[in-house]
Amino acid sequence: MKITILTLFPKVFKGFFSTSIPSRAIDKKLISVKYLDFRKFAEDKHHKCDDEPYGGGAGLILKPEPLFKALHSIKAENKRVIYPTPSGKLFTEDKAYELSKENELIFIAGHYEGMDQRVIDTFVTDELSIGDYVLSSGETATLVMIDAIYRLIEGVITPESLDEESFVNGLLEYPLYTRPYEYEGQKVPDILLSGDHAKIKEWRNTKRLEKTRANRIDLYRKFKKSKLSVKG
Ligand code: ADE
Repeated sequence: MKITILTLFPKVFKGFFSTSIPSRAIDKKLISVKYLDFRKFAEDKHHKCDDEPYGGGAGLILKPEPLFKALHSIKAENKRVIYPTPSGKLFTEDKAYELSKENELIFIAGHYEGMDQRVIDTFVTDELSIGDYVLSSGETATLVMIDAIYRLIEGVITPESLDEESFVNGLLEYPLYTRPYEYEGQKVPDILLSGDHAKIKEWRNTKRLEKTRANRIDLYRKFKKSKLSVKG
């Protein structure tokens, strides 16, 4: 997958892509990452990328010209262009999975109070929010989305690691334990040492349900409803 990030702050991403799994994905040519600093497309003397909104209001917004020029330069018309914004649709694991099937993704890491609507109308295919809170920059939201997407590309991590993690089949993950068996008086549940794989699976499924019910009642209800409709 070819990933292009339009950003005024490429540094934010470089640390992430130089570590562990992301850097291995690049080495294995499963992903490539390119940064496009759109400030260089701002042609005025001060390379200004922001301006006041028409109609008044607090803060500054991204101007259309540098972004239009940057996006035209990479022929972004008719490509999948993602704009992380708190006013977008909710970014979910299902969306990450859908986007992981694309050959090319372009992200616009916004800044300031937003960007000129004409950029969205002309280029953006997906306006996505990572949650109901406002971040100070689009870079962190872009990084969150890329992290959730690239790890689902075949070959990046072992398929077994994806099988039972949170959100797969609509439930959260079961509790995990490693050595030592006993630590500060707390023991690992004996069932996990029993070697009885069917029983372990049953225990894990029960724990997934309990955890989902306690932490995410919305997902729990959806799961229960889907089970009922499967049974008819
Ligand atoms: N930019 C600022 N806040 C955001 C959010 N919650 N999701 C996506 N992009 C954002």
